[in-house]
Amino acid sequence: MKLKKIYMGADHAGFELKEKLKKYFDKNRISYEDLGTNSEESVDYPDYALAVAQKVSKNKNAKGILICGTGTGMAIAANKVKGIRAVAAYDKYSAEMSRRDNDANVLGLRGRFFPFEKIKKIVDIWLETPFSQKARHKRRINKIKRFENHGS
Ligand code: RB5
Repeated sequence: MKLKKIYMGADHAGFELKEKLKKYFDKNRISYEDLGTNSEESVDYPDYALAVAQKVSKNKNAKGILICGTGTGMAIAANKVKGIRAVAAYDKYSAEMSRRDNDANVLGLRGRFFPFEKIKKIVDIWLETPFSQKARHKRRINKIKRFENHGS
């Protein structure tokens, strides 16, 4: 499946990393849409998480990248939107497996106290890795979808 669009969002703690990542994407001709925030003034991460998650939930070829201090608040909030499978990844392995096994469509990143060199590797592998399409993983994701849709 072709990746059509990356929606990006950050709170004040993720703003600086979002800007760095945008430059990296520009250099590598990766297209994205930035849904804010646009400064280091304090904001609430759920506003950005929910905005990005709603965009991703409406476009099955799209992905989201959300950045806060840790990436966790963003993932917690994004996962409240139907169809979203958000993860906060701090290493290449978890980023890769979240795509291969879980078909994650939103990546939460840590904006504070974390090297950009690692962020680039996490983002690259997450964007490059396809869902495995294996029956057992589809079955497990379908159980989550069923619960999401019917509560059982
Ligand atoms: C904001 O200070 C911080 O709590 C937020 O960026 C994030 O880490 C929440 O999960």
